[in-house]
Amino acid sequence: MKVTVVGAGAVGATCADNIARLELCEELVLLDIREGFAEGKSIDMMQTASLLGFDTKIIGSTNDYAKTANSDVVVITSGLPRKPGMTREELIGINAGIVKGVTESILKHSPKAIFVIISNPMDTMTYLALKSSGISKNRIIGMGGALDSSRFNYYLSQAIGCSPNEIQGFVVGGHGDTTMIPLTRLATYQGSPVSNFLSADALKKVAADTMIGGATLTALIGTSAWYAPGAACAQMVESILRNEKRLITCSVSLDGEYGQKDICMGVPVIIGRNGWEKIIDLKLNAEEQAAFSKSADAVRSMNNVLSTL
Ligand code: 2OP
Repeated sequence: MKVTVVGAGAVGATCADNIARLELCEELVLLDIREGFAEGKSIDMMQTASLLGFDTKIIGSTNDYAKTANSDVVVITSGLPRKPGMTREELIGINAGIVKGVTESILKHSPKAIFVIISNPMDTMTYLALKSSGISKNRIIGMGGALDSSRFNYYLSQAIGCSPNEIQGFVVGGHGDTTMIPLTRLATYQGSPVSNFLSADALKKVAADTMIGGATLTALIGTSAWYAPGAACAQMVESILRNEKRLITCSVSLDGEYGQKDICMGVPVIIGRNGWEKIIDLKLNAEEQAAFSKSADAVRSMNNVLSTL
């Protein structure tokens, strides 16, 4: 198996590091436009191989897409990250051109690849990759919900005082501070609804903290996060390459599901060797469905900006 990660910045390098440690592929190409940057990061990571005991071969490339040929999975992280005070949406102008160009270059060398999109604004970049490539919708998967759900699990575990591993929560909708929808009603702690353990006010605070989870980190670090985005991406790549059929919330193209069409948004999907294989209908209640529709309006207006660029 072969994986390419485009963009050797903090998110891309962390994705590559996680994928190598899990030995998800024999070969991993890390590509960046900055001269020598991906090569340097790759050599640094390869120098951890004998310490960490992995056998994945990591190869750096300065914009040479020939090296990415025949990749099974391609992760796109390229583009600018947000700075403190910025929304993900403000990145659309610069990142749209980058994501479109990268998708085209990859497809010339890896016509069968499955794409995992991380660049922001993620739902719109996923939609753009789908529309500009014309490939099957099952091969384009946006990462946001996997990350937002892991942040939700973390905040729930902090409030309950348990391990994040004992929580199962889903965040659906758009990957934006005001568009994501932590599904508090459906979150469980060891199989019991979290409302058995936390007050309504505590649950509201968890949902609010989750929604600004990325912005909180951006304010603290000075740029957007990388450990959780990298790990969320690796979980998706693992489910693809090992055909695990895990249920992960990801941004995928909707065709009537959750009342939406011609849009990519976060919903729970089964991820396997063919990309996203099935959308799971969580049966939202009226309030959740209304939030989903409102989120879709915001994502759609961002998608509409694409035609003005
Ligand atoms: C985040 O939420 C990178 O969008 C990403 O941290």
